[in-house]
Amino acid sequence: MQSILNDLSGKSILVTGASSGIGAATALVLGKAGAKVALAARRLDALAGLVAQIHAAGGEAIAIRTDVAVEADIQHAVATTVAHFGRLDGAFNNAGVLGKVAPIHELSSTDFAEVMQTNVYGVFWSLKYEMEAMLKSGGGSIVNTASIVAQIGFANFSVYTASKHAVLGLTRSAALEGFPLGIRVNAVNPGPIVTPMAEIGFGGLDNLEATLKGSPAGRPGLPEEIANPVLFLLSSAASYINGQGLAIDGGYTVQ
Ligand SMILES: NC(=O)c1ccc[n+]([C@@H]2O[C@H](COP(=O)([O-])OP(=O)(O)OC[C@H]3O[C@@H](n4cnc5c(N)ncnc54)[C@H](OP(=O)(O)O)[C@@H]3O)[C@@H](O)[C@H]2O)c1
Repeated sequence: MQSILNDLSGKSILVTGASSGIGAATALVLGKAGAKVALAARRLDALAGLVAQIHAAGGEAIAIRTDVAVEADIQHAVATTVAHFGRLDGAFNNAGVLGKVAPIHELSSTDFAEVMQTNVYGVFWSLKYEMEAMLKSGGGSIVNTASIVAQIGFANFSVYTASKHAVLGLTRSAALEGFPLGIRVNAVNPGPIVTPMAEIGFGGLDNLEATLKGSPAGRPGLPEEIANPVLFLLSSAASYINGQGLAIDGGYTVQ
């Protein structure tokens, strides 16, 4: 573990969706590991709090207001990271939305488009501009946040599920393009994790915990339980791992 931590020291890493949940926990872990972290999300006030936390822990961080549903915002976030830290070595493309929880026949085209705009276009644009920047820095490592619903179907979450299948498809294809150029691309597929998104999706923390009682782990995961595997995938300790979607779900999908 110590060598992984040393490995990321001084590396410039962009984290999208850093204002909450999994992204915030990962940005903090990366900052404590000595990485220079660029935090991207729409809520600047939440990012400012995290920047202060990373500085207090002795790390380096900047906040960049970014809406990943807007291509120019992502281009700006990557350019700002490179301008500030001199290069881009890693990225965690984690921003995402759940959308409306309902059966397909109750969903509109707008419901579909809104989720795709953030979850799929957002990851596509992130990969596009990050890979372009990494080619100039001589390579890098990218991790996208998909979900266990990239591997299975999930009733009432159809559009979200389709969007995460797309994230895995982008991951696998970008990985094949990237490896010969020195860029690895992987995904994490979290199971239910205690964050505002999951609490809303499952109708509150009590419901989330009750739903997971019968799962192999018997509980939902914690954001830190995604953050540490992301740190590993970003590091050179994972140098031969490419194009994978790593399920981090306490065994949920192997039942
Ligand atoms: N929690 C789970 O059970 C679970 C399971 C599998 C996968 N995931 C995935 O994990 C990722 C993080 O979710 P979370 O659970 O940590 O939820 P969360 O606490 O609600 O965080 C979502 C993050 O995404 C950001 N975001 C949303 N739309 C954005 C946009 N248009 N532009 C920029 N940032 C945007 C939010 O920032 P702002 O609102 O400040 O913009 C926030 O930082 C998502 O991709 C989600 O699909 C979560």
